[in-house]
Amino acid sequence: MANTNTALHAANRNKKDEFYTQLSDIEKELSHYREYFKDKIVLCNCDDPYESNFFKYFALNFNALGLKKLMATCYDGSPISGLELPLFFELEENTSPKKVAYKVEITEIPDLDGNGATDLSDVQLLLQSDNNIMQPLKGNGDFRSAECIELLKQADIVVTNPPFSLFREYVAQLVKYDKKFLIIGNTGAFSYKEIFPLFKDNKIRTGYTNFNVGMFFYIPDSYEQYHHLENGRKVARVASSCWYTNLPVSKHNEELICIKHYTPEDYPRYDNYDAIDVCPYNEIPYDYEGEMGVPITFLDKLNPEQFEIVGSSLELANPMVGKFPEGTFVKGGPSFYIPDTENPGMHKRLYNRVVIKFRKKQ
Ligand SMILES: C[S@@+](CC[C@H](N)C(=O)[O-])C[C@H]1O[C@@H](n2cnc3c(N)ncnc32)[C@H](O)[C@@H]1O
Repeated sequence: MANTNTALHAANRNKKDEFYTQLSDIEKELSHYREYFKDKIVLCNCDDPYESNFFKYFALNFNALGLKKLMATCYDGSPISGLELPLFFELEENTSPKKVAYKVEITEIPDLDGNGATDLSDVQLLLQSDNNIMQPLKGNGDFRSAECIELLKQADIVVTNPPFSLFREYVAQLVKYDKKFLIIGNTGAFSYKEIFPLFKDNKIRTGYTNFNVGMFFYIPDSYEQYHHLENGRKVARVASSCWYTNLPVSKHNEELICIKHYTPEDYPRYDNYDAIDVCPYNEIPYDYEGEMGVPITFLDKLNPEQFEIVGSSLELANPMVGKFPEGTFVKGGPSFYIPDTENPGMHKRLYNRVVIKFRKKQ
């Protein structure tokens, strides 16, 4: 009989989680948060210091940011992890170097060029300092393992690009341990039942990078689909990547200027929920006091002081049976519907909506 854990592990490894973030994308986003890193302990889990540009970014900027400590853990499931480790560890016979999970802890970066912004990100050089350590982990480096959780508890801010397939669990763990975070995810996660309530409670927000342009990631050679090659390395574009954080992001304090006046003709009402549909979001009428459904990507613009989130169509939509353009009666799913103006008597199903309303001015 197949060992369930082994099978699960294998299945997890088959998920396409190996997307390595470019240094330029990290620099672009991180430049907005410099003040929050002074005297802080940063953890980059799900990261291989030899490959990760997150580790590189913090090593390069360790002194300039005034970090107290940089920690990184490497998962043994990564196809590239641990390839250089035999330099440091006595591996057991027959152990593939790829199977080593380890941690690195940096508390000192020698200021070689004397200006606080050393270009030193070479792990091997960093480890020449007695204050910096690299050690194999007992387990596989899973962010959920007890030893990785112990590191998480020490950390002030977690910064990484976690495995897409485990995003829900990853965020839940950060929330459980009450950690500041700055991580990359997919905009599809806005609607997850574990993530959406965090937006509602203002415990998560999107970062600065405009997600409409997509982000480029290095991927392993074994992945068939890619966008282009860069120095022989495959690069993929993920159109819907964005940054998620609970650090302050100034755009979420900006008031959205609403200039349109409400008229019943311009804003259809849902068939299966008592709210009006506003699409695109920049047509939010300034004088409508009730509930309004806007595309879920509005969360990237949300100013929680200006708007209250009521819920999402996934949770609010009432069941409905209606007539659709195909001509048959179909049961409505957890979506909002509006009358289909091109097919009188029929209904049109809408993409997921977030229902908001203006907060009352004090
Ligand atoms: C999206 S990649 C990002 C890698 C790196 N943080 C970067 O951006 O360059 C996610 C990484 O998490 C690793 N990973 C997958 N499952 C994991 C787990 N359960 N615990 C820790 N890391 C895991 C993958 O092997 C992969 O290298």
